[in-house]
Amino acid sequence: MKKSTIILFFVLALMGIVFVAYAGHEAVLHQRTISSHMPWADAGDIRYHITIHMPYHKWDKWPGKGEMYKGREPHGSLLTTFVNKNALDSIKKVKGMADEAMIVKENYDQNKALMAITVMYKVKGYNPEGGDWFYAKYDPEFNILAEGKVKECMDCHGTVKDNDYLFTGKVTGK
Ligand code: HEC
Repeated sequence: MKKSTIILFFVLALMGIVFVAYAGHEAVLHQRTISSHMPWADAGDIRYHITIHMPYHKWDKWPGKGEMYKGREPHGSLLTTFVNKNALDSIKKVKGMADEAMIVKENYDQNKALMAITVMYKVKGYNPEGGDWFYAKYDPEFNILAEGKVKECMDCHGTVKDNDYLFTGKVTGK
């Protein structure tokens, strides 16, 4: 073999190694951003998160609450409430909800027809005066009905501020 052929072979081999290493590195980076991605304080982004990215049907239900338990006004006669991992861990610790805790509640009428989906999502720094809770309400087709610092949600949930604005169970020990 000619010397120049050998050099060419080594150069090509080196380029191959560099390419594979780079592609692998990119894949790892990509994977990490996807797996750790939590939505922005935005009802559209949250909808993507809870229907496609991390479907809420696969989450745990609020501890001690089953499917279609009895609810109060204004949410509906029957409720099913799901919690993500951060919320579940916080409920168990009883020290208030951690950042990135999310609660998704299905609201049914007495005939078991789905009326709405309501969400509370804790986003550090989003609304310190309101426990940093982001509120969202969707219709059964997941159209957005309300989102953000929704006054009616905040006014009523504000009555249980000592329990981190939550009604369903004790989460603060207060
Ligand atoms: C008049 C009072 C009232 C208003 C207004 C209200 N809620 Fe609630 N919410 C409750 C009560 C009471 C519960 C406990 C479940 C039940 O018994 O119905 C609850 C439960 C929840 C939960 C489950 C977590 C928890 O607090 O226990 C979510 C999520 C929620 N509401 C979201 C919303 C959103 C979003 C809005 C505004 C669109 C809203 N709520 C408006 C009274 C209210």
